[in-house]
Amino acid sequence: MSPYDSTLEDIKNRLDIVEIISEYVHLKKAGQNWKGLCPFHAEKTPSFMVSPSKQIYHCFGCGSGGDIFTFLVRHESISFSEAAALLSKRAGVTLKKFQKDTVKTGEKETLLNLHKDTVVFYQNSLLKNAEAMGYLKKRGVSSEAQRLFFIGYAPYRGDALYLYLKNKGYKAELLKKAGLVNFGTKGCYDTFRQRIIFPIFDLKGDVIAFGGRTMSHQPQNEPKYLNSPETPIFNKGKILYGLNLAKEFIKKSGYVIFAEGYLDVITLHMYGFFNAVAPLGTALSVEHGKLIKRFTEDAILVFDGDEAGIRAAKNAIGILLESGLNVKALLLPEGEDPDSFLRKNGKEAFGTQLVNAMSLVDFFMRQKGNKHSIAHEVLETICRAPDSVLQGHYIKLLSEGLKINELFIREELKKVKKTYKLRGTYTQRQRSAELAVKSRPQHEVYMLQLFLNFPEKAEVFLDLIPAEDLIDPVIKSIFKKMKEGVMDYNVLISECGEEEKNFLTENFFKKIDFDDPEKAMEDCLKRFKKEKQHRLLDEIQDKIKEAELKKDSTLLKTLQLEQQELLGLKRN
Ligand code: UTP
Ligand code: MN
Repeated sequence: MSPYDSTLEDIKNRLDIVEIISEYVHLKKAGQNWKGLCPFHAEKTPSFMVSPSKQIYHCFGCGSGGDIFTFLVRHESISFSEAAALLSKRAGVTLKKFQKDTVKTGEKETLLNLHKDTVVFYQNSLLKNAEAMGYLKKRGVSSEAQRLFFIGYAPYRGDALYLYLKNKGYKAELLKKAGLVNFGTKGCYDTFRQRIIFPIFDLKGDVIAFGGRTMSHQPQNEPKYLNSPETPIFNKGKILYGLNLAKEFIKKSGYVIFAEGYLDVITLHMYGFFNAVAPLGTALSVEHGKLIKRFTEDAILVFDGDEAGIRAAKNAIGILLESGLNVKALLLPEGEDPDSFLRKNGKEAFGTQLVNAMSLVDFFMRQKGNKHSIAHEVLETICRAPDSVLQGHYIKLLSEGLKINELFIREELKKVKKTYKLRGTYTQRQRSAELAVKSRPQHEVYMLQLFLNFPEKAEVFLDLIPAEDLIDPVIKSIFKKMKEGVMDYNVLISECGEEEKNFLTENFFKKIDFDDPEKAMEDCLKRFKKEKQHRLLDEIQDKIKEAELKKDSTLLKTLQLEQQELLGLKRN
């Protein structure tokens, strides 16, 4: 263990997780542990567990877990080093070892400072520009909203920002990396020129990127919006516009509104819908959904009711469902977005639309087409839901909507799942990897439980199983750490990533009793061999299907031979 780790362990040993979490969550004693309502998602019955003996927490509702550091990072939306600094002070431990960390985050900090300075520049130049102020006024953006969203303006002059930032000592390379300037033949010029600027914030409220809209109504020769490129501090797929302001209201109201654009979010907030967010000119991702799942399980998607809007809605519904959110859809009249709708019809009218938002099933059933093909479309979407509870919910709705017995629908769903999986093996590897996470292979979970509970017996077995044989990416990554010799539960928790932490804490509270651990390990090993064989056979089966489709008879023969061999092996 490095000295860095021991400082962290030292802090953990001096503080009590129950005491710390109690400052935020009302905890009640439950056996050896403590229980309360999870602060990370809305729930009515407590599924948030805290263990004083292991100094960890886990929520069985939203699946998140960790130690005191993780808790503070998530609860206060601060960085790990900030959490460590806070807790070290409280524990009376000096944290000199963190220099290492600051060096690593050096570039990130500079980028954050750069964005801070840039916002000030854009805000000032907005106040100085009558045309830009006029544009915002025409669009109905109040001065309060301007302040709240830190709206600015990028002036006409091609290098105004560049000169300003150069004066502050920033290097041109960094500005280029942040996407704020470009290198031209005549030197550096600003990326955003003559555009209204919408700063993009992370959850903590730091500016990490910008979006800029031209002031022409329907631009012909330039993009309507320009956005910052991805940088070490900006990952589009993980950021939602407005979430820094909306997160508390999402928790409070119990749901999130997904809109499509910057101005939609701003107008929604202006009209009192403080729980509205939007992706940044990209499609919604599973990652976006997971981000929201920290605050609520319920989402309403708002789309333009035209054909393109319906198509986009269908896609987005599936994606959010895959992240485990309960999704409803709200289709506005054709050609409207929340911004235009609110300005035309007002707050009440939009409120009514929200109340009448359609469940996923209703949304599909409203579309043209016959019952059978609609049912299939719904089933294909439903099978993306990660857990059977959510699936069950929609199966029930579909059965009511179609007036078809639930049993038939479940049968049909099984078939759809099969084809879905088959398609998934080749075209959507990533998606099936994500699905696999939800249903982790039982024998892998079992094995890790054994290793965690009997670290002294694990050594021999750790060597017998190659890491490649593990399918579950999270278990595999913990397993690799174990192979490197990290067997201590608390050190594992400190050194692992978020998903690994969640897994470790979950499995502590779900402890299995093993009568004969050695025999259990032997059994586990056998299961591993069998599973591997099954997997190889499945893969060959898929390849055979492909070869048949392609009518590739040579390949087919080779594959069939391979299959025979494996089957022979299996019989042994
Ligand atoms: P819209 O074209 O619907 O614009 O794009 P909007 O948000 O309604 O803006 P106004 O009302 O015309 O001013 C929706 C979102 O798609 C992204 C932006 O995030 C925008 O808010 N987008 C759009 C881009 O990133 N680039 C573009 O060129 C256009
Ligand atoms: Mn609009």
